[in-house]
Amino acid sequence: MTPNLHALDAEDANSGAQSQFNSLGNLQHLLTLEGLPKETLLHILDTAEQFVSVTSLQREVKKVPLLRGKSVFNLFFENSTRTRTTFEIAAKRLSADVINLDIQTSSTAKGESVLDTIDNLVAMQADIFVVRHKTSGASANIARHVPSHVHVINAGDGTNQHPTQGLLDLFTMRHFKKDISQLKVAIIGDVIHSRVAKSNIYGLATLGCKDIRVIGPKSLLPSQIDLQGVRVFHDLSDGLAGVDVVMTLRIQKERMAQGQVPEGEPFFKEWGLTSERLAQADAQAIVMHPGPMNRGIEIASEVADGPQSVILKQVTFGIAVRMAVMSIIASN
Ligand code: NCD
Repeated sequence: MTPNLHALDAEDANSGAQSQFNSLGNLQHLLTLEGLPKETLLHILDTAEQFVSVTSLQREVKKVPLLRGKSVFNLFFENSTRTRTTFEIAAKRLSADVINLDIQTSSTAKGESVLDTIDNLVAMQADIFVVRHKTSGASANIARHVPSHVHVINAGDGTNQHPTQGLLDLFTMRHFKKDISQLKVAIIGDVIHSRVAKSNIYGLATLGCKDIRVIGPKSLLPSQIDLQGVRVFHDLSDGLAGVDVVMTLRIQKERMAQGQVPEGEPFFKEWGLTSERLAQADAQAIVMHPGPMNRGIEIASEVADGPQSVILKQVTFGIAVRMAVMSIIASN
């Protein structure tokens, strides 16, 4: 069902860039990677590095008390497996109380507006909202609405941004490939509907990456990207030549007009990442995917499960990265 938005529609999907810092210049919300300064980005990645040990299998008690007494509300108005679950684990490892609002059975289904729901949860002393919504700019609008002690994290807003996914992807690239400024990164497939691709592109550019390639059919790529270092390719072999990182994306049917949805099998034939095609990239290249994966459409199983795949590592690192984001904004 479509939630009643009550003035939640985006006026300007990019408005998050200005509104994520408080009057002291500290990160109050995390809404977008566009315009997020390099030092803030690196501070999040370095903090996540420290949390990797807290979440490691070797450690018996995987908890720190940084968010003890705080309440984190997960508000997912769109489906999610990895993002919602890793936010919950991350919040619990920081000792927060976590409330997962079940949107299907909440009063949203009775016509309550999102901002009225938010007001009620603030009245229950919410400290952090983690929000996923199909409307671009939804999190930024909620951030403008809440009182100043409350924090909002964008867990995906329409086709706009998915900043924590972008951060965990950057963390993964840095982990395996070290210096991001020296990398060649290729993003294949449905870039135009992908908030993940957008967050990655802004984050990579901020960290000095000079070779970012988006590869796919014309219908799934922006015609040009006005950001230094980003190039558009309509030929997979050309685009993949010598790259260090290959990221594939799901065809996001739910964000497309009926007529333009590409068929799975023909898409795979032309754009699917197979071992043969991956051989165009650097021999040490890593393969990434934000999930959910559609095997045999954007990626072959042999690649998804192959030695160059770091797809499940991305998921694990997502916990440490989300712990870092929550602990940093809660301390501001
Ligand atoms: C992505 C999303 O929701 O944008 N998934 C995720 O959070 N890992 C990508 C997608 O839906 O295809």
